[in-house]
Amino acid sequence: MLSNLQQQPADALLALIKLYAADTRADKIDLGVGVYRTDDGATPVFAAIKAAEAKLLEVQDSKAYLGPEGDMGFVHALMPYVFGAGDPTMGGRIEGMQAPGGTGAVRLAVGLAKKAGVPRVWMGVPSWPNHAQIFADLGLELKTFAHSTKAGVTDMDALRAAIAEADAGDAILLHGCCHNPTGIDYSHEQWDEIAALVAEAKLLPILDLAYQGLGQGMEEDAYGVRRVLAAVPEALIAYSCDKNFGMYRDRVGALYVMAESAEGLGAILSNGHALARAAWSMPPDHGGAAVRIILEDPALTKLWLDELDAMRARMRQVRARLAEAGMAGSVDLTPLGGQNGLFSILPLSAEQILKLRTDHGIYMAGSGRINAAGLTMGNIDKFIADVAAVSA
Ligand code: LMR
Repeated sequence: MLSNLQQQPADALLALIKLYAADTRADKIDLGVGVYRTDDGATPVFAAIKAAEAKLLEVQDSKAYLGPEGDMGFVHALMPYVFGAGDPTMGGRIEGMQAPGGTGAVRLAVGLAKKAGVPRVWMGVPSWPNHAQIFADLGLELKTFAHSTKAGVTDMDALRAAIAEADAGDAILLHGCCHNPTGIDYSHEQWDEIAALVAEAKLLPILDLAYQGLGQGMEEDAYGVRRVLAAVPEALIAYSCDKNFGMYRDRVGALYVMAESAEGLGAILSNGHALARAAWSMPPDHGGAAVRIILEDPALTKLWLDELDAMRARMRQVRARLAEAGMAGSVDLTPLGGQNGLFSILPLSAEQILKLRTDHGIYMAGSGRINAAGLTMGNIDKFIADVAAVSA
């Protein structure tokens, strides 16, 4: 039977990690997969995480099973940051469960939508390539619309037209902040309109919040999610701590469900637990426990938020420097200054992207997406010059 299986291409984004590692050029630049880097090009473990891990080592007295919902202390400790400190459960209508990273949370959200009878999902493109893969894997139809225009702003007309065409009971996937791959986020006014449109069209929002704190700030980056939740009766929220706590390989995420009523919440979550049990039984504990220890300790929380502030400040510095450069050959870098998070798309052809890799040692996704965190004050001028050289 197994010989029936056809060779699958390696994930293009993850394949870049290996290609980059095999390149022996000293001045190579990795702008591929979305991990944060310091101005020295390192992705260190947060000091707050190191301290929490030390404490975990000391106090953890068992590794016995927790259950498919994972560490509920972790799940609850995050909620004020996501949903607001006032009433993070929205009157008992929001509850969550731990998931293996943001990907596990998205998969769980889409699985729940499918089980609830949602036939199709609307999504702005380009998007994170794994979104479409997850929909296809779970057998949900995908309907797309343009996320942004050539001018580098959100395409509100395309979004409005898509919502007008959608049927009640369809889902819509929205990036909470730091849009992956464009870095082009909705403004507050646009979120206000989107929230009303989604509510009016009776769509189920699936909100993917994978980069909270890397855009404008923890509170600011939650604006869209909170706005939508205030307008609709029910929603699914996929959360990742892999970027804002630097936990990538430890897979730290959560799925939150907002139900129409507090009474209905338990039944929905029980389906989440059943899906998790059948998929991975229970999420890996270590990373979630470390995040919980940080969030339960005011000094560690402050240390973490300071580290996150420093990351965001560096991203803004890199973006400001790119914007300042203006034109690099035929590529206008100015819009990158106003974009958020790690990613931006450069309007480069497949040929130019390949040339940047082979001739200049610059690695980026085939879509033209760059992870701006791969740029440092030491290599940014080379990058700008190389983009100019291939696009002139
Ligand atoms: C990315 O888009 O680079 C990250 O979200 C990592 C991943 O899993 O693809």
